[in-house]
Amino acid sequence: MSINNIMLIGFMGTGKSTIARRLAETLGWTLVDTDQWIEAAEGMSIAQLFKQKGESYFRSAEVAAIHDILQRSKQVIASGGGAVLNAKNREAMLKHALVIGLRADERTIIQRVSRDQSRPLLKDNVRHNVVKLLEERKHAYDFAHVQIDTSRSTIDETVAQILAYGKLSSKHKGRE
Ligand code: S3P
Repeated sequence: MSINNIMLIGFMGTGKSTIARRLAETLGWTLVDTDQWIEAAEGMSIAQLFKQKGESYFRSAEVAAIHDILQRSKQVIASGGGAVLNAKNREAMLKHALVIGLRADERTIIQRVSRDQSRPLLKDNVRHNVVKLLEERKHAYDFAHVQIDTSRSTIDETVAQILAYGKLSSKHKGRE
């Protein structure tokens, strides 16, 4: 199977954006972040979008974004943590990308997301909201082609695992 795109899925704080950036750089592929794509299309931040237009509007924009993004190839795509809740998104991902499910334990997730207060679904009580959403979504990421736990791995280790799984090689092969 030739791999057109790599789609990173996973709960908030599992490392999707960080791993996507390093992976895209390593492969020489285009980096795409679905949240940033939506922010550019809508002309406002995700937090503003949730506030002004509501979550269901955001979810429709997310379906449109993922559809449009997946028309292209050679991209490493970091998706928003809730994108997988929509069946259309899951189908499109599986059809057009190698889907990598990133995981992390609850403690690690809480630590990571606490650094960034901009996520609308976590605001007010990060710990409580993470625990609740993790339970609600406990099987939401199971459909990925491969699962990788990032809790105790370095960025390079995770990237190496993904490259090995996809039988992909770095454009910097041989470089120190
Ligand atoms: C969401 C995750 C966020 C963003 C939005 C909703 C979710 O992306 O799309 O706040 O439902 O899990 P990250 O996973 O990049 O934080």
